[in-house]
Amino acid sequence: MTSSSDATRSATPADGQPVEDRGSNRSQRPSSAAFRAFIADGWEETEAPLPDRLPSADTAAAARAAISLELPGERLVLPGGDLRVRSNDTDHPFRAHSAFAHLTGWGAATEPDSVLVLHPEGDGHEGVLYLRPRAGKDTEEFYADSRYGELWVGVRPSLEEVAAATGLRTAHIDTLRDDLAKDAGVGQVQVRLVTGADRAVTALVDEVRAQAGLTSTAGADAELTERLSEIRLVKDEWEVGEIRSAVAATARGFEDVVRSFPRASGHERGERVVEGAFAARAREDGNGMGYETIAAAGNHANTLHWIHNDGEVRPGDLLLLDAGVEVDSLYTADVTRTLPVDGVFTEPQRRVYQAVLDAADAAFAVAARVGEGGARVRFRDVHTAAMEVVAARLAEWGMLPVDAAMSLEPDGQYHRRWMVHGTSHHLGLDVHDCAQARREMYLDAELVPGMVFTIEPGLYLRADDLKVPTELRGIGVRIEDDVLVTEDGVENLSAALPRTPSAIEAWMADLRG
Ligand code: GLY
Ligand code: MN
Ligand code: MN
Repeated sequence: MTSSSDATRSATPADGQPVEDRGSNRSQRPSSAAFRAFIADGWEETEAPLPDRLPSADTAAAARAAISLELPGERLVLPGGDLRVRSNDTDHPFRAHSAFAHLTGWGAATEPDSVLVLHPEGDGHEGVLYLRPRAGKDTEEFYADSRYGELWVGVRPSLEEVAAATGLRTAHIDTLRDDLAKDAGVGQVQVRLVTGADRAVTALVDEVRAQAGLTSTAGADAELTERLSEIRLVKDEWEVGEIRSAVAATARGFEDVVRSFPRASGHERGERVVEGAFAARAREDGNGMGYETIAAAGNHANTLHWIHNDGEVRPGDLLLLDAGVEVDSLYTADVTRTLPVDGVFTEPQRRVYQAVLDAADAAFAVAARVGEGGARVRFRDVHTAAMEVVAARLAEWGMLPVDAAMSLEPDGQYHRRWMVHGTSHHLGLDVHDCAQARREMYLDAELVPGMVFTIEPGLYLRADDLKVPTELRGIGVRIEDDVLVTEDGVENLSAALPRTPSAIEAWMADLRG
């Protein structure tokens, strides 16, 4: 890795070289006038036609219209996000903020430091996308700017290209400050910001608001975030198509993982072999992973968010793989399968697995009632159905201090010792999508067509859990599917991946030849 900073100075700590300039220790770029003139000249101007309008553009426009209706007459500021430093002059990979992605449709192509502003106009808003467009090849930025320069990060888009792709008016980021300050002020235009996305934009908006006398703004910002979460609760046809693509790529990743088991079993960090197999597929077929992969063999499956993935993958154990591909539009899948490493479940593993599968099926059955004329199913009912099965099985196995019915009472809940997480969450641009929605819009809301959520019961029987029958200790199982609510009921979007023990065994045998 190289750095763009200038190294021709011979400053030492003794002569006061500022610490922020020390990156020059790694660069050899000359700064002579002759060099600057020479490198700025002799490049062919590349002429490319304007890009087509993105397939996401209509969904993004509808999302902008939805938030416009919610907060009329106010200026809404949605940063796409800034680069986050990993160390010194090295950044983490960039991924646009999900609310920005929803309202622009720009997806994985998003330029860091861009900002969408919905300016109030008439009865609605005009969206303007502010960004730093590419500079000409005759500019210093082209060769000297490691953050934006074409020689460093590749060709970036022009304002015209981004406007053509997104259907939004575009403007240079340098005009953002004046546009924000235009008519902000008490009794004039309220400015609301998506906080936590871009520190520089947050500072700029705070400054503009302070100058305009708008001081008490935290509640207003939180309300914007809440509304942006809520307008994503129901997906349109294009969004469902993106989630289908993400799930299909995820299924291919799971197949790759099964094919990796022989190598994983012989490796001292077999879980990393599994993680790597999935990650390769996620980058080949999508933008990457929608969240950190959980590749948890044996007792590691009982650590709910096991992402160290540094353990062995032993024949005879189960491997819990919770993984999802995020496609280029940034929609993600979130799927879990728990697989016998050597292709065959043992009897105790099958017993635990079947209990979790029964819980999942019960949850599916309740969700499917939305297709029965007039039936009203709340999001929380799906979880309740799964818990009834979990409590019943644990009672049968003698693990509860009371009967199943008493455990299900609010002041009981003993069964939750072995499944402390919820059964479902919304899924979309975020793996835990719509997370800031109000309770009445989420947990207490009725299921309606277009909602996409997970059903993911599990049982986690730790090796050190003295309340678990000895033969079941160390077994952890989760089964997670992605579910679309339709007019007729529900569709299991991840049904292509087998769920029953016998179907899993047959599928694995087939994949391993
Ligand atoms: N992978 C995180 C979850 O299942 O919610
Ligand atoms: Mn999940
Ligand atoms: Mn998951």
